Amino acid sequence: MSKWIRKSNIDEIAKSLMEDERQLLVCIDAQVERLYASELADLKGRHNLLWFSFGQGENAKNFAEWERALEFFIDRGVSRKSHLIAIGGGALSDAAGFVAATLLRGITWSIVPTTILSQVDASIGGKVAINAKHGKNLVGSFHQPNEIFVCEDFLSSLSKEEIISGKGEIAKYAFLDLKIAQAIEAQESLSHIIDLCAVYKLELVKRDFKESGERKILNLGHTFGHAVEWSYSIPHGEAVIWGLALIFILDDQSQQLEKLKKVLENLQVRDIKTPWNKSSWDLDRMIAIVKKDKKSIDSESVELIVVNSQDQVVIEERKWSNISNALTRKQGDIHALSLN
Ligand SMILES: NC(=O)c1ccc[n+]([C@@H]2O[C@H](COP(=O)([O-])OP(=O)(O)OC[C@H]3O[C@@H](n4cnc5c(N)ncnc54)[C@H](O)[C@@H]3O)[C@@H](O)[C@H]2O)c1
Repeated sequence: MSKWIRKSNIDEIAKSLMEDERQLLVCIDAQVERLYASELADLKGRHNLLWFSFGQGENAKNFAEWERALEFFIDRGVSRKSHLIAIGGGALSDAAGFVAATLLRGITWSIVPTTILSQVDASIGGKVAINAKHGKNLVGSFHQPNEIFVCEDFLSSLSKEEIISGKGEIAKYAFLDLKIAQAIEAQESLSHIIDLCAVYKLELVKRDFKESGERKILNLGHTFGHAVEWSYSIPHGEAVIWGLALIFILDDQSQQLEKLKKVLENLQVRDIKTPWNKSSWDLDRMIAIVKKDKKSIDSESVELIVVNSQDQVVIEERKWSNISNALTRKQGDIHALSLN
């Protein structure tokens, strides 16, 4: 697929890591470790390898786990030539990547993404982070992995919730790239759609690694998505779906909302329940969360990623007061929102 992204199966990945001569620091999601213990047993027993099990999913992304991992590796002896391998979903690679970025001022790393979401998005682009008390991904760095091993084998054990979450992130790409939109419409295989999304993101990241311009369009649906994820404790990719819907409601784009429903239908995302109801929707709280987001320019305005009237995804600076007023006026549509 590309110099950085390698299609593989579990046996090939394990074999290539067994043959690697560097000291390997494996960071693995606790759940993935349990599920794939036998497939990874030989690797775990390999000479010159340290094995660190992170808390499951989002539990990996905090200061305590970051410190625990750093002390674990430093205690056992590592060098700047050690190579870190992150095995897990997006939360694990964000956390492990932050360890790779900070251990001895930065060591090289590679990722084995084990969820759909991490294969199409989180593992690509070198953004690594942990969460802080006030919000997601507030402490982190840019640290590009050397290799990403995309392996379908892992997807068979994903829960329904995680499959929906991954497909939520894929839905975003349908607004960014015509080729991906067409593949989804033609109901091509999930594996092919994952490849298209991964390559799309990789190409964009190559042009704008530090997210100073064009790369920001990948945040479509994420400004409100992060606030929904944080407020209602739902998986990241599912929150992106609601983040997309909120952007379309904000901009009176009923056609885009219909397109979103069609995309979800073609991806076989069914029965997703709106995370809020009339009494739990709290616009002020959502805006307070978004204001702490990195996309916030200052307390007055935010860089919002929107779809314009020519169906192009663009970055626009918007005033918070206008957003707040518009969403307050549209409260009825938001309360009644359903994507099924
Ligand atoms: N760095 C980036 O560019 C970027 C982009 C998008 C999302 N993210 C981050 O990614 C995270 C979400 O990633 P995610 O959706 O992969 O979730 P996740 O990593 O939290 O994993 C979700 C759950 O699936 C389990 N799991 C992982 N692989 C599995 C497998 N093969 N079989 C069964 N269970 C498995 C995990 O244990 C966890 O319970 C968020 O923290 C988000 O902020 C980062």
